Amino acid sequence: MFKRLKYISRASKRMRPDAISALAKASAENNRRADITGILVETSGIFFQVIEGPAEAVDALFQRISADPRHQELLILNTMDNCDTRLFPQWAMQTVSLRSDDIRADAIKLLLDTAVEGQRRVQLLSGGIERFVWTEVAANQAATVETT
Ligand SMILES: Cc1cc2nc3c(=O)[nH]c(=O)nc-3n(C[C@H](O)[C@H](O)[C@H](O)COP(=O)(O)O)c2cc1C
Repeated sequence: MFKRLKYISRASKRMRPDAISALAKASAENNRRADITGILVETSGIFFQVIEGPAEAVDALFQRISADPRHQELLILNTMDNCDTRLFPQWAMQTVSLRSDDIRADAIKLLLDTAVEGQRRVQLLSGGIERFVWTEVAANQAATVETT
């Protein structure tokens, strides 16, 4: 059984193609040792990555990746435990760089913007709900105190 995790992030600073190649090479070497496979798509300063493998290995890798200062605004798009098969069994980490005018780049950018905006709204709404619930609880407590 495998775990699969997909995330999207924004590069902290635009990485040059040689820096991306170096990252891809080091990643593939590490991943081969850890039995991880996947893809890393880079376009106009946005990363989209799929990592898959044994659950502990995926979790350990994602912890390192999320602490990496080379990118920020990491958003997990999807995690799946107990996958029977891998999507990219032959790739220790296949890196794909898309030109900014590639139509697939537009889709990835839109995905990041939508995900970031969605996340912002979720935070706003959950904060609002929390405050609403607390006001209600506080009012009920005040009423209880009055009647006792
Ligand atoms: C977008 C992005 C994707 C990465 N993908 C991987 C990866 O698939 N495998 C990997 O070992 N490191 C990957 N890294 C690098 C890790 O964050 C980390 O620097 C590396 O694993 C070395 O960690 P260590 O210095 O703690 O040994 C990625 C970094 C970035 C910014």
